[in-house]
Amino acid sequence: MKAHELRNKYIEFFVSKDHTQISGASLIPENDPTVLFTTAGMHPLVPYILGQEHPSGNRLVDYQKCIRTGDIDAVGDPHHLTFFEMLGNWSLGDYFKEEAIRYSYEFLTKWLSVNPDKLSVTVFAGDDGVPRDDESAAVWRALGIPDERIYFLPREDNWWGPAGEAGPCGPDSEMFIDTGRDSCGPDCRPGCKCGKYFEIWNDVFMGYRKTLEGDYVPLARKCVDTGMGIERTIAVLQGKKSVYETEVFAPIIAGISKLSGVTYGEHEGQDVSVRIIADHVRTSVFILGDQRGVKPSNVGQGYILRRLIRRAVRHGRKLGIDGKFLSALATVVVDMYGDAYPELLDNRDFVLTELALEEEKFSTTLQKGEHEFEKMLPNLLKGNGRVINGRIAFKLYDTYGFPIELTEELAAEHGFTVDTEGFDAAFQKHQEVSRAGAEQQFKGGLADHSELTTALHTATHLLHQALRTVLGTHVGQKGSNITPERLRFDFTHEAPMTAEQVQQVEDIVNSVIARDLPVSFETMTIEEAKAQGAIAFFESKYGEQVKVYSVGDFSKEVCGGPHVTSTGAMGHFKIQKEQSSSAGVRRIKAVLEK
Ligand code: SER
Repeated sequence: MKAHELRNKYIEFFVSKDHTQISGASLIPENDPTVLFTTAGMHPLVPYILGQEHPSGNRLVDYQKCIRTGDIDAVGDPHHLTFFEMLGNWSLGDYFKEEAIRYSYEFLTKWLSVNPDKLSVTVFAGDDGVPRDDESAAVWRALGIPDERIYFLPREDNWWGPAGEAGPCGPDSEMFIDTGRDSCGPDCRPGCKCGKYFEIWNDVFMGYRKTLEGDYVPLARKCVDTGMGIERTIAVLQGKKSVYETEVFAPIIAGISKLSGVTYGEHEGQDVSVRIIADHVRTSVFILGDQRGVKPSNVGQGYILRRLIRRAVRHGRKLGIDGKFLSALATVVVDMYGDAYPELLDNRDFVLTELALEEEKFSTTLQKGEHEFEKMLPNLLKGNGRVINGRIAFKLYDTYGFPIELTEELAAEHGFTVDTEGFDAAFQKHQEVSRAGAEQQFKGGLADHSELTTALHTATHLLHQALRTVLGTHVGQKGSNITPERLRFDFTHEAPMTAEQVQQVEDIVNSVIARDLPVSFETMTIEEAKAQGAIAFFESKYGEQVKVYSVGDFSKEVCGGPHVTSTGAMGHFKIQKEQSSSAGVRRIKAVLEK
């Protein structure tokens, strides 16, 4: 079974079980300053799992682009990926364990023709606060899975979430296919790293919300969140040992072979480079081509993108590719995924241009940097330690554009480590944005919907409408980012705003706040929303149900929420900065003063 068939079948199956298909979200979470990328299908659904009504109902299904950056450096082995697609179905307070497991079993055995004898499952073994999940085990047993293939495992294996530090979580039940390979020993079981058991699906029974203090609070409404990774699943269904052997990677790898003359599968050292290039180009295309695509930069998502591109370029050189090659490979990715992710087609030129620019920027200095590094090697080898000091790492960064992680990789190839603390110190001296600050975000949790961020979110709607009133209706939201301290809003507009315009916008927003207008929402199709004149910068399919938030008679906008219930207590709106963001895009930073 091919990836696109699996994607279609999954949706078809759950639609036949009364689920509504919703659009996957952007890879770049909106209004969520604490994570860089969408990491799971449930991620955009967190507010609904926590209790909000979803406009499309309480049985949902979708496919979602995901990026996990935690182990970029592990990419290169046959298994790790930074980008993957996740299929998911949700019950928001509707069905729970029994139906979720029955659906999973039916889809696997009837629709994917998985042999039930090859299926092993795991359920939560229970601990202090949460009982053993006998209920799920009983359902599996009733479906015919014998006890010896039902494993009760502890929290480290059978508990999912929260995705960050706080948020919904619960015990899960995971499904594994026995690949038929020999087991590595008597302790081998699903979850074992030896690869005998291949995990393909995870049913999470979201029954708790973990607080920032570390408490587990039972959710009033129990939800189901399931996730099936497309790449992994087709690999096992096709009897492949690695995701890189599937049709998802074949055309990219063929492209790399053509450019480099290297045949995949002949030489492990080269295969590592091939996989790194293939993965990193695919992920870069999805970041650049996203609805909220970003360019390479030195902070946040842009920094991850830069690392991916530069690492790919370096491994391209290692394979002996001389000229520019990323755009050629990116075209393959865009063509392959354009149907499922039309935003890639819309942004095709941007993707190819930005990749080529970044590649060019880095290629010219890469060789010099590597050369510099090699010149230093004899001296370094004379020293006692095998540590490259932070000053040298910073020089490679500053002069040759080597992300620190690339220097670490280069160093490791020669048996060295890098003094990253020394690097950070040197870095902080030179830059206003600290790498530690950027990295904080990788660890962070999900959107916090505190009162402060909620009020700032409502303020973005007021700002958006006020900008359209003052500057014209060509103004459209290009991005937004909210922390408890401030809002940031990017919008289309050519020229810098004048001081009068800034003042007018502030005045309008503050007068709406003073009028204490009610904020409410209605659910309707995206077409109805547009017909009513709602601002809609929101990725949605034809006929999809959306929420439309109105602030009195002042603003109407398609949005997931949450918002304040009325504007009165929001505080005083103040624009702190109005500046250029990129060509044709302005950026405003604003606060609500109490
Ligand atoms: N959230 C769970 C996962 O990522 C199931 O969707 O595995």
